[in-house]
Amino acid sequence: MSIRIKLAETEQELSDVYRLRYQVYSELGRFAEEYDDAIVDVFDAIPSVANIIAYSDDVPIATIRVNLDTALKLPSDHTFDFTPYRERIAAEEQAAGRSQPVFASAGMLAIAAEWRNRRNVFAGLLRMAVDIGHMLGVTHIVATVNDETAGIYERLGWERLSSPVPMGDFGVNISPFATPMASMYRWAFGMFREKKDLLEQFSGCFTWYLVDKGTKIFSQGEPGDEAYLITTGGVDITCFHEAADKTLYLARLGPGDMFGELSLIDSSERSATAVASRNTELIVINRDVFWEKSYEDPTRLKDLMRVLAARLRDANNLSMIYAYASLGERLSYFVEMLRRTAVEDVRNPDILRSKMTVHEFADMSRASLEEAERFLDKLQAENKLEYSKHQITFFEGRDS
Ligand code: CMP
Repeated sequence: MSIRIKLAETEQELSDVYRLRYQVYSELGRFAEEYDDAIVDVFDAIPSVANIIAYSDDVPIATIRVNLDTALKLPSDHTFDFTPYRERIAAEEQAAGRSQPVFASAGMLAIAAEWRNRRNVFAGLLRMAVDIGHMLGVTHIVATVNDETAGIYERLGWERLSSPVPMGDFGVNISPFATPMASMYRWAFGMFREKKDLLEQFSGCFTWYLVDKGTKIFSQGEPGDEAYLITTGGVDITCFHEAADKTLYLARLGPGDMFGELSLIDSSERSATAVASRNTELIVINRDVFWEKSYEDPTRLKDLMRVLAARLRDANNLSMIYAYASLGERLSYFVEMLRRTAVEDVRNPDILRSKMTVHEFADMSRASLEEAERFLDKLQAENKLEYSKHQITFFEGRDS
């Protein structure tokens, strides 16, 4: 399964947005009588509107809208009076010596029933909305959300501005929420702290790609038109040697990492295969955008060059490990690599989990299964980790 999330720009994409709203809202018993088969309002006609749409195998499954403040105010202003909030924020910004706030609203959220429980679909839509808001210079976001989704906004740290209020004739209760953009940006893109320029350079031009664990993102030898930034999840990079019928494990990448850039740079085929090691969310940068933006401001290429330099250093390390390291050194090197890229337990950051079979671990370390097991048994006896058939759990946090 894979999902693409993008800005709706074509006639087809926009009609998919309007129809999906209708389909979802009529299912939920809202709005249906007023419209034929699509829901469109005056706020869809404002040039700065951004409608975002998610497709699974070309079927529209989810949409959200971002509106920038205009003389018509925001869609949310028509369901709740945000004036006191606007005034409070304007006064705070002035007192802090900052420029006047720029408000935007997020709304018209519609997710097809079978996708409603998939948190990653909503997170992907929201992350893209945050990127667009950031590009438009938004400082604060407001939204009126219905009861079913209020909990999500509360967990994200949004400020609730009132207890639920009935919304017009639609028979639903809505809650007004607001948040500074900065905190949403941290939530959405905190993993790119060290690659801020890379993100800034391409902001507003992204497509999002959600893939399930095990999905092949591309194969070695294929032509490549896209590079990817990982926001959540992980990706394994491997290389296959046909004559030896052997797969070489090159890297396990995680949030904040980029891959697939080589084909964009040298127009050659993919140098390796990329497979999602977990359910993964990716930002996609296509070739045209990549070059267009790079020519616009070449100084921003510093982060990209840093990625390439780090990769070359890692590749040198790996060559040395495979060429000269002893069995013990190889096993230690790869177990450390797994620990570095393992996922933190939500409740205890000292517990890190890496999805990897002992077979795969033995293979990447060029060890036999028995040698790999003996090595892991020793670390297990020292209480450093625990391993099962499909997972290695580390008991010392990343910083230890
Ligand atoms: P590309 O050649 O377009 O497709 C395969 C990608 O894998 C490549 O770009 C890099 O982004 C990534 N890659 C290749 N070799 C390595 C490596 N040694 N370590 C980490 N990533 C790599």
